Formats: sequence, structure tokens, C-alpha cells
Amino acid sequence: MKRAEGGMFNNAGQVLNHTMYFEQFGAKRENNKPEGVLLSLIEKNFDSFEAFKTEFVQKGVSLFGSGWVWLSLKGGELVITQEPNAGNPVRSGLKPLLTFDVWEHAYYLDYQNRRADHLAALWDIIDWKVVEGRL
Ligand SMILES: [Fe+2]
Repeated sequence: MKRAEGGMFNNAGQVLNHTMYFEQFGAKRENNKPEGVLLSLIEKNFDSFEAFKTEFVQKGVSLFGSGWVWLSLKGGELVITQEPNAGNPVRSGLKPLLTFDVWEHAYYLDYQNRRADHLAALWDIIDWKVVEGRL
């Protein structure tokens, strides 16, 4: 995945990205949020969990075309990045922790063109233990 190009990159990337995407989901929970080290890092880097969610969704909504928005670890700090198409932050040396799929196929059947509504709904089903385990 780090070195692949062309069709191999597109397919390997989408397998890795969708695997990480689906593994991070769990049962729907009200007031779902991370705990412990991960919450501390989020509050350190984004001021609050609510501010983090707002920035993450904004990055997902503003990604032009198809791709993925990512929360990653970079040198001990958390960063949010946009990756077009099959991109994954591992290609830039980052450690990916959380991702939202913003390809239209991820939300069109339920939300039509309302990407922001889809992204907002995902917070209720994130299994933060899985995300923290990626640290
Ligand atoms: Fe997808």
C-alpha cells in the first residue's frame, strides 16, 4: 500500500480503507465519545471533542469529489487530513486511527446528496476502543 501505484494502489487502498472503516463501527450509543488517552489527545489537539467533530466533518464535507477524511497520529500529535480516491495517510508516514468514507456510494442511498448529515450520524456508531487500539 505504501509503494503501490495505478490499479494495484487503487484496489489495495480501498481494501485497507474499507477494512479500517468497517472495523471501527459498533453498536449505536447515545453520547458516544472516546475515553482515556485518546480523549486527552483529542482535547489537547482540538480543544474539545465537540470542536474535533466539527472540524472532522467540515474536512469531510469540503473534500471535493471522492475520498476519505482521516484522523491520524503524526509525531505524537493528532491531525485531520483529506485523501482523494483511495488515499491513506500511511503513504505520508502517518498512523491512521479513524476514517470516514466520503465516496458518494457510502451515503447516497440513505442521504442522497446530504453528505454532512451522513457524517454527523456516524459519530453514534464509532467504537472508540477500536480507534484507541490503533494508537
Ligand atoms: Fe466506500
